[in-house]
Amino acid sequence: MNKIPVAILGATGMVGQRFVQLLDQHPWFQVVALTGSDRTIGQPYIEACHWVLSTPMPDWARNMNMVATSVGAFDARVVFSALPSSLAREWEPCFAEIGMVVCSNASAYRMENDVPILIPEVNADHIELIASQRKNRGWKGAIITNSNCTSTGLTIVLKSLLDPFGVKAVFAVSLQALSGAGYPGVASLDILDNVMPYISEEEEKVEQEPRKMLGKLNQGQIDFAPFPISAHTNRVAVSEGHLVCCSIQLIKKTSLDQIVAELTQYQPPRICKDLPSTPKPVIKVFDQPDRPQPRLDRMIGNGMTTSVGRIRSDPIWDVKMTLLSHNTIRGAAGGSIYNAELAYQAGFI
Ligand SMILES: NC(=O)c1ccc[n+]([C@@H]2O[C@H](COP(=O)([O-])OP(=O)(O)OC[C@H]3O[C@@H](n4cnc5c(N)ncnc54)[C@H](OP(=O)(O)O)[C@@H]3O)[C@@H](O)[C@H]2O)c1
Repeated sequence: MNKIPVAILGATGMVGQRFVQLLDQHPWFQVVALTGSDRTIGQPYIEACHWVLSTPMPDWARNMNMVATSVGAFDARVVFSALPSSLAREWEPCFAEIGMVVCSNASAYRMENDVPILIPEVNADHIELIASQRKNRGWKGAIITNSNCTSTGLTIVLKSLLDPFGVKAVFAVSLQALSGAGYPGVASLDILDNVMPYISEEEEKVEQEPRKMLGKLNQGQIDFAPFPISAHTNRVAVSEGHLVCCSIQLIKKTSLDQIVAELTQYQPPRICKDLPSTPKPVIKVFDQPDRPQPRLDRMIGNGMTTSVGRIRSDPIWDVKMTLLSHNTIRGAAGGSIYNAELAYQAGFI
């Protein structure tokens, strides 16, 4: 096939670099533009970007000159946005208006009624919101968002239990990696030998975004899932991979064996079963008592799999467990690319 031309907005940051890495030799998409701020416009990517990933910068990216984040600066059909939220709010609609499909990591539009927060294995059907979005806003393109990186793994796990058992309430405590704060992120003297018990606006996102993704599409908007989530979010001295410890109250009583079986067997809907970024498996269940661990397990399924372990009875509610999701892959660039693949498969690109 002729590859679909795509641009990366904010290509030098933690998420931007992951896009460059993951789109290298993508079977459907070809990067034609990398955008940056006034600091980097006009520079070749190799000079503009302080590359921090463990694989080499792809050859095609090294000498690509950074361009402005503005309409007319490049031509693409898909725009992968790794912009800070305030810039995303300003620029993403401009690209959607002229026909580009914007797959965004920023929080700016996640909570708008006609904008989907997509995790293909969870709510592929929410992509239909694009039709209402185009009608409401007169856009030829669209904005599709992915969830905040802490919500991603939690939502996948909740979805696998929601359908068979129903969910009444969730309590979640995160231990989040440093790369989640962007580059250079948290000062080393603040985080070494330490845990930061506060991440700005994170708890609110984890308490709301999964409820939107697990909600039901109803006449051009989403009815949120009706259960509460209580979240505590913490920054820890781990480079990548967000760990979440959660307790879940179910509606229908069941056994731990059944819960393990549902998690292990969980399958994505047919439309996104065999896309280039489909995680295999969607959920990896550990029975060793000390897994998952960020350093050992974050790259399972090329960083797209959600790992779960320590599944045990909860003395207050029904079940508790620990889950792990790679924040810059599954929770950011990889998730966004998977969303774009779904949008293409569903005929929106
Ligand atoms: N890190 C994660 O795990 C994660 C996960 C999910 C979602 N997100 C979201 O993804 C977005 C990017 O996060 P990040 O961690 O990659 O941040 P980051 O490392 O701080 O990078 C920010 C990027 O924005 C660029 N930028 C600033 N002003 C710009 C402009 N006017 N035009 C174009 N680019 C501009 C910077 O480019 P220059 O180098 O050219 O100045 C830099 O590449 C944020 O909205 C964040 O909330 C992050």
